[in-house]
Amino acid sequence: MRKPLVAGNWKMNKTIAETRELLTAMKDGLNAVNGVERVVCPPFISLAAAAEMLAGSKIGLGAQNLYWEEKGAFTGEVAPAMVKELCEYVILGHSERRAYFGETDETVNKKLLAAQKFGLTPIVCVGETLAQYEANQTRDVVSSQTRLGLTGVAADFAPSIVVAYEPVWAIGTGKASTGEAANAVIKDFIRSVIAEMYGEETAQAVRVLYGGSVTAANAAEFFSQPDIDGALVGGASLKVEEFLSIAKAAAK
Ligand code: PGA
Repeated sequence: MRKPLVAGNWKMNKTIAETRELLTAMKDGLNAVNGVERVVCPPFISLAAAAEMLAGSKIGLGAQNLYWEEKGAFTGEVAPAMVKELCEYVILGHSERRAYFGETDETVNKKLLAAQKFGLTPIVCVGETLAQYEANQTRDVVSSQTRLGLTGVAADFAPSIVVAYEPVWAIGTGKASTGEAANAVIKDFIRSVIAEMYGEETAQAVRVLYGGSVTAANAAEFFSQPDIDGALVGGASLKVEEFLSIAKAAAK
């Protein structure tokens, strides 16, 4: 049985003071939701404050990125060991990083291998753009992002990877995919690729989340699907009641 996981991607929102406020409002309620791994991913600069506040709780902490080199002359970057000091999880290859910061399948793969080396649980994002969706390229894009992203990962680490299927056209648009459509992509283009690479058992062990305009109102539709194990939540993760409802829906 795959344990459901709901992760909040705060993106570039909340100062340290605001992070404290939001976590104060969210912490007890979120901590009390059993049967689901719940994770918050504030900006790098807020991670230390968040780690302090979440110590002793069951709420996990994730970063939104890392750099693959271990240390040195990489101004502005954050090394895996620095992330590991504070976090258990790291989001990798988010479509905004691919679109605005030049991330490619190759850099996502390097980051994934770094996460493996440092014992971080990666949440690897894949998903097609609107143009690719309209050109019927979802299969090619999602399966090759999955294959190239996971290349070289050790067989014993692969089952602990989390993949997030986030159709780019659904992110921040209020136009979520449907449970059925997202489930089909996850089953046919993500789990099937993992099965080719690591075998069926690993493909069934890997948790795959849906992301893209998940709200309290539509979460249950995704979580009722057999191949969807939770959600990567953007906008709604900044709203206490919304995020709690989504976590509760995943726990059912
Ligand atoms: P959204 O973002 O829930 O605001 O659509 C999801 C994401 O980008 O991870």
